[in-house]
Amino acid sequence: MQKLEVPDHIAIIMDGNGRWAKRKGLPRIKGHFEGSKSVRRIVEVCVELNVKYLTLYAFSTENWKRRKSEVHALMRLLNRFLASELKNMMKNSIRFRVIGDVSLFPPDLRKNIISVESRTKSNSGLTLVLALNYGSRPEIVRAAREIAVECLKGDIQPQAIDEAVFQKHLYTDGIPDPDLLIRTSGEVRLSNFLLWQCSYTEFYFTGVLWPDFGKKELIEAITEYCDRERRYGKERA
Ligand code: IPE
Ligand code: IPE
Ligand code: MG
Repeated sequence: MQKLEVPDHIAIIMDGNGRWAKRKGLPRIKGHFEGSKSVRRIVEVCVELNVKYLTLYAFSTENWKRRKSEVHALMRLLNRFLASELKNMMKNSIRFRVIGDVSLFPPDLRKNIISVESRTKSNSGLTLVLALNYGSRPEIVRAAREIAVECLKGDIQPQAIDEAVFQKHLYTDGIPDPDLLIRTSGEVRLSNFLLWQCSYTEFYFTGVLWPDFGKKELIEAITEYCDRERRYGKERA
């Protein structure tokens, strides 16, 4: 097999849980449950491959539009996932981090998130980033607001605002931009995910539904990524 040059940061829009369930005549939540098994699988493969950052889109700012019962079920699933995965995170030295605004999440879930983040803070292996109630536009607006407040206080001059300053106010502060972005289920859009951070990311779209996405599919995506030439505006080699 060709030697894989594994990207440092892989981001995934995990889509297709609902369709997976529908095809099997199962309730949507069963699709999400199977999707959570894919998360475990992919985290394991990323640890094995020495990926440094894995960012997973788990709940968007737009997903509140779904039925209450589905939203509740997703929160419950998330809570269970955190409780069951902490041991594995410690074993594999995984650092857990959340991007997004979780202030509207149920208090017990918030408590769990904070606890897993703080307990895994010093781990030095894979950084697992979960995007929860995340939307790129609200993230960018929030950054602009914070910088405006700093300007009003006189802490920063408008001329001093550059990309590096702006980036510091994004949820992803300290996390490098994704090298590879994968979206499953055949949808070809970003759905408000990492708009700022993906300006030079390589995109990979697959028709595979998230619950069916495993090691083989991830390796396929990485293999295609390895064949790409990232030019960043320069002429072809
Ligand atoms: C992705 O699967 C999971 C979340 C958005 C939480 P979907 O639930 O969007 O699955 P489809 O798009 O309905 O198949
Ligand atoms: C994007 O999937 C959000 C997550 C995967 C969490 P959606 O299924 O919500 O996206 P749209 O609505 O099809 O764009
Ligand atoms: Mg979807």
